[in-house]
Amino acid sequence: RDLLVGIDVGGTTVKVALVSQEGEVIANDAVRTESMKTPEEVAAAAQAIKAIADAAKAEGDRVAAVGLAVPGVVSPDDELLLSPNITLDLGALVEKLKDVFGVGVYPVNDANAAALGELWQGAGSGDSLVFVTLGTGVGGGVVVGGKVIVGGKGSAGEIGHLTIEPDGRLCGCGRGGCLEMYASSRGVVLNYRDECEKSGAEPVELEHDAHALPIFDAARNGSPEAVAAVDRMGRALGQAMATIACVVDPAAFVIGGGMSPAFDLFGPALMDEYRKDVISACADTPIVVAELGNLAGMLGSAYHAANRAGLAVKVW
Ligand code: BGC
Ligand code: NA
Ligand code: ZN
Repeated sequence: RDLLVGIDVGGTTVKVALVSQEGEVIANDAVRTESMKTPEEVAAAAQAIKAIADAAKAEGDRVAAVGLAVPGVVSPDDELLLSPNITLDLGALVEKLKDVFGVGVYPVNDANAAALGELWQGAGSGDSLVFVTLGTGVGGGVVVGGKVIVGGKGSAGEIGHLTIEPDGRLCGCGRGGCLEMYASSRGVVLNYRDECEKSGAEPVELEHDAHALPIFDAARNGSPEAVAAVDRMGRALGQAMATIACVVDPAAFVIGGGMSPAFDLFGPALMDEYRKDVISACADTPIVVAELGNLAGMLGSAYHAANRAGLAVKVW
């Protein structure tokens, strides 16, 4: 069989899947990596990725193309223009992967990849959707006419950097008040610390600056500071999505990423703010949770690679 490898690079792990041209995930696994900047780190990551693909291959299988989803802006000529939450030498990684696999390697923005994955095998079926990914960063994938809009410089769908609070918290992109600073896992931690400072409450223990899970647990248990932090996240998203609706008017919003399972907690504030802010025609636009979980980025990058390599893939 001619197969695809779909890679999804995150802040601390790299997820790898072997995917058929019909969109079936044959196997998937992950490796830990803190940074991929030095030649040694890049080489080690490429070897680990290759090893995962090799372990999953059956007799007679061949990798025909490799897709590489990364958490940053990928320009039309495959350069990484911005990556606020990761240290990555994209050019070196692409070259190294081309070396070890001996086929074309095609980078793509992680949220764009996840949108493609959901469209291919998951929650997206309509002609248009806006995919919102909530993790260490906030990303977006705008699909119109069955295609992801990348824009002239690759920055279309960079919804994490919509300004929602003029002169607000300093973002990794160098500007202040971006959505990401209120609605990513780091944003939720900042919301929570603000609330604890205001009330004088002792914060729950967090392992790092993006460790939002204990805050969701605390919100479930009724901690007023955690509830307020999650409410802030939801409202920031609702505000941004209302703006997006005025520009794109998608058939649906699909919410994915590591924090999407907490939709029951932040969803009500999100919906409330969205309906308050949005143009009336878009008030009932469905807002749904993604279906593929963390497979979306791997599947979508595989799909992207197949397209770029000119392979026949089964379309949705
Ligand atoms: C980056 C996006 C990325 C998102 C999610 C943002 O900070 O600018 O390119 O899609 O994080 O990883
Ligand atoms: Na994007
Ligand atoms: Zn920003």
